[in-house]
Amino acid sequence: MGDSAKERTAATAPGLAAMKAAGRRIVMTTAYDLVTARLGDAVADVLLVGDSVGTVCLGFPTTLPVTQAMIAHHLDAVMRAGPKALVVADMAFLSCHLDHADTIRNAGDLIRRGAGAVKIEGGGRRVETIRRVIDSEIPVMGHLGLTPQSFNAMGGHKVQARKGAQVTRILDDACALEAAGCFALVLEGVPAPVAARITKELTIPTIGIGAGVGCDGQVLVIHDILGLTQGHKPRFVRCYVDGFGVMSEAMGRWARDVREGAFPGDQESYALPEDGRAALEAWRRG
Ligand code: KIV
Repeated sequence: MGDSAKERTAATAPGLAAMKAAGRRIVMTTAYDLVTARLGDAVADVLLVGDSVGTVCLGFPTTLPVTQAMIAHHLDAVMRAGPKALVVADMAFLSCHLDHADTIRNAGDLIRRGAGAVKIEGGGRRVETIRRVIDSEIPVMGHLGLTPQSFNAMGGHKVQARKGAQVTRILDDACALEAAGCFALVLEGVPAPVAARITKELTIPTIGIGAGVGCDGQVLVIHDILGLTQGHKPRFVRCYVDGFGVMSEAMGRWARDVREGAFPGDQESYALPEDGRAALEAWRRG
């Protein structure tokens, strides 16, 4: 990547607000390990160590089983890639729901591991918590709309803010999160006109996923971009390569080569120098 990649990189939370002010769209993707961190960091302004790690990498049906320790484990791997992008770590289900001291300790642990900010799902009930975390000098990215940690409360992964009262509530929540000091806001599974109105109303940037093109930036799970996700594909996903197909084909060729004795060849094997060969030939059992 050349200078254009550097131009897209905002390494700090306040840097994202500057991008919105300058009319530059924000690129955010998820990262869970060394490889995804390197792939994402080459193009994105923000890397999210999302609790989507639970569904994408760990095989859970929802993000609810993901713990603070799991996020920390994957954040450590991402930080070992030395990313230039702003790294945001998700606050796992129940890591920010018990009491404020517990929440600040959990958020602080992610910051100590190298994250530049944390993301907390929810509006209304979560606003005071978010304010306390921000008061502890920890930048917070908000997350409204289809918040996957509310899977049971919402009755599934459903598009939000479609009806009158819900529309009013998400607009109020977005304003409350901005007032609480969030530096950016993810809008997930929200009708495009609602997301566009929130984006217009706020000075902090909105980052959409299933929220239309009217947001200040977009986030997509890296496995979805690369075509590595199996099963149901939500409407908002655009897959840029059939990664699973390409890799499956490569795995098939390797397995066939092994079965046919065509792997490894000389170029993948270590030669034995002359004196080693003599010892090999001279050796007799017993
Ligand atoms: O965990 C995650 O990947 C997320 C994004 C989808 C915004 O929260």
